[in-house]
Amino acid sequence: MSSLLDVRAVCKSFGGRRVLGPVSFTLDAGEFCAVTGPSGSGKSTFLNLAGFLDTPDAGEIHFAGKAVPPGDARTATRLRRDSIGMIFQSVFLLPQRSVLENVLFRARYSGIPRERFMARALDLIDQLGLTARMRQKARLLSGGEAQRVAIARALLTDPALLLADEPTGNLDAESAEEVMRALSDCAARGIGVLLVTHNPALLRHVHAHVECREGRFSEPG
Ligand SMILES: Nc1ncnc2c1ncn2[C@@H]1O[C@H](COP(=O)(O)OP(=O)(O)OP(=O)(O)O)[C@@H](O)[C@H]1O
Ligand SMILES: [Mg+2]
Repeated sequence: MSSLLDVRAVCKSFGGRRVLGPVSFTLDAGEFCAVTGPSGSGKSTFLNLAGFLDTPDAGEIHFAGKAVPPGDARTATRLRRDSIGMIFQSVFLLPQRSVLENVLFRARYSGIPRERFMARALDLIDQLGLTARMRQKARLLSGGEAQRVAIARALLTDPALLLADEPTGNLDAESAEEVMRALSDCAARGIGVLLVTHNPALLRHVHAHVECREGRFSEPG
């Protein structure tokens, strides 16, 4: 069976300076993989390519067995909308809106009425332990709660791939554990989860780990 995400010798340069690659990487459905490495080594650049927010200068990316050529903006948009959830270090919640409204916000881009997502949103809020906070404005949440709302929002459309860039960067150890448990649960349900983290203590949760250094990947030694 082909991998969920299959990145083949991709390279990315900015302003003539190569910041990533060539890098090859595969992630299967249900696999939880971490990318670590120093600041500026190319981790977020890689995640943006894997999430089709940006396009590689060279190499290929296959999603669920199909190549997505860099010029195929239509497929990239569809994958981002339907099949990929992204979580960023800054959670970008709407501060004056409730937890439930923030989770449902993702439905806005689907072209499907948000009422149709309601049962799914309530289920995710429950799974992430946020039911008691559901009507609360996002600005009143703790960091860990806010990050769990971001996870629920990313999962609203049942993505096959979840990309998380330092989702625990601003959290204390206990909240970071909550977020890691939530990501582990996603992998256990069959989602491919790719996590960027600086925190070695969190690596015990993951199945696989690669290190990014100066734009290249290696198995940690
Ligand atoms: N849009 C861009 N334009 C120009 N340079 C960029 C751009 N995006 C990233 N870079 C550069 O590419 C390099 C890798 O950046 P990247 O954000 O991927 O690092 P990172 O490993 O995620 O670092 P951190 O751990 O600090 O988040 C950096 O030198 C950065 O300045
Ligand atoms: Mg980064």
